[in-house]
Amino acid sequence: MDRIRIVGGNALNGIIPISGAKNAALPLMIASLLTSDTLTLENVPHLADVELLLRILGNHGVDVAVNGRRERQSGSYARTVHFTCRTIVDTTAPYDLVSKMRASFWVIGPLLAREGKARVSLPGGCAIGTRPVDLFIEGLAALGATMEIDGGYIEATAPKGGLIGASYTFPKVSVGATHVMMMAASLARGVTTIHNAAREPEVVDLANCLNAMGAKISGAGTQTITIEGVTSLSGARHRVLPDRIETGTYAMAVAMAGGDVTLEDTDIALLDTAIEALRRSGAEISAVDGGIRVIGHGDAIRPVDIVTEPFPGFPTDLQAQFMGLMTRAQGVAHVTETIFENRFMHVQELARLGAKITLNGQTARIDGVQRLRGAPVMATDLRASVSLVIAGLAAEGETLVNRVYHLDRGFERLEEKLTRCGAIVERISG
Ligand code: UD1
Repeated sequence: MDRIRIVGGNALNGIIPISGAKNAALPLMIASLLTSDTLTLENVPHLADVELLLRILGNHGVDVAVNGRRERQSGSYARTVHFTCRTIVDTTAPYDLVSKMRASFWVIGPLLAREGKARVSLPGGCAIGTRPVDLFIEGLAALGATMEIDGGYIEATAPKGGLIGASYTFPKVSVGATHVMMMAASLARGVTTIHNAAREPEVVDLANCLNAMGAKISGAGTQTITIEGVTSLSGARHRVLPDRIETGTYAMAVAMAGGDVTLEDTDIALLDTAIEALRRSGAEISAVDGGIRVIGHGDAIRPVDIVTEPFPGFPTDLQAQFMGLMTRAQGVAHVTETIFENRFMHVQELARLGAKITLNGQTARIDGVQRLRGAPVMATDLRASVSLVIAGLAAEGETLVNRVYHLDRGFERLEEKLTRCGAIVERISG
């Protein structure tokens, strides 16, 4: 199993290219199941989760062609991927695939809308909490589908003649369930209105792509989304939006290690709340042409309290990284997680580096320390593991992050991007 070795203490200076967003690429790829034409996606990140989803889609009958090319001197590889699903050859998503990646459960929407049926395994447990699927079941049932659970699978069947548009209010905001409802309702008969929809930029990106395919969706990015069903969707070409979580992660790394870095191919407007928290912590952040410039001071970090919330609030996917930054704040900071239970596994690992953190329910109290010391640590989930990298960049001596396959799920060429900016980060294979 690969490990990442970090020798802390170097400031970061230079350019970091930001990849296409994993959390947008996954639903966009799944949308290719909705049409028999070719959907072309540009700026698809090269990540373990994307590769796995390619395999899952292949199972349902999607043909994939990839052109990779080096786009810029700073080393960003933007891949263009063509997806063609002439016919759906299998409407079952099996347990061994869905259990490896939760987002693959979302194929239930397009399979049901296009084929009238889907048999999709329940995703099962997850390191960051129970993460149920009740909202998907209720939402699709509102469109007229019969939803039954049998042998660990959801058997979904559309009424004769297809799904029927309806008005549905989500009792809780869910990114995944909003994606699935938009995809399913695009091919339903009549108009669907989704109330209390997720407002994440990735929802807007999916709506834009579906509209380019011929869907009639309005209101994405607000709490109410209206979808006028159409009888079929066509192919389209769409560019995946920049990864706001990767952007925020590197901005926090610079704030932590100090230095001056331009994050390229990204957009400051995607992460207002996180930028605001970073500025309050003392980082200087400005929009520049095609990106964001971050200047960090490393040793003068001010404590800032944050609470995770659905967009436009502070993203849960940046919570662990921000906590990493706060471990060296000059004072006490509080981090409250409201989206997922059990999303504090990084606390024990950060403590191994010398952080002082106490947990009280959903809130962590972080007493900033003057210095962290490198140590072997264990990556536990995707975002938690990158918080250990951030902390390692500012720790004295060597930090070894074990189980980095978690990082490879969501961060494209992390060690290369950091090394180019002067960090000492290397992958140890085997
Ligand atoms: C997506 C992102 C993930 C991010 C999360 C919150 C992808 C691949 N994943 O995950 O990185 O952390 O949004 O921004 O894009 N819930 C229910 N019932 C349901 C569905 C969800 O109770 O049927 C709950 C979840 O347990 C959680 C909350 O709703 O507490 C939000 O979940 P959701 O927005 O669905 O997260 P994901 O789409 O899984």
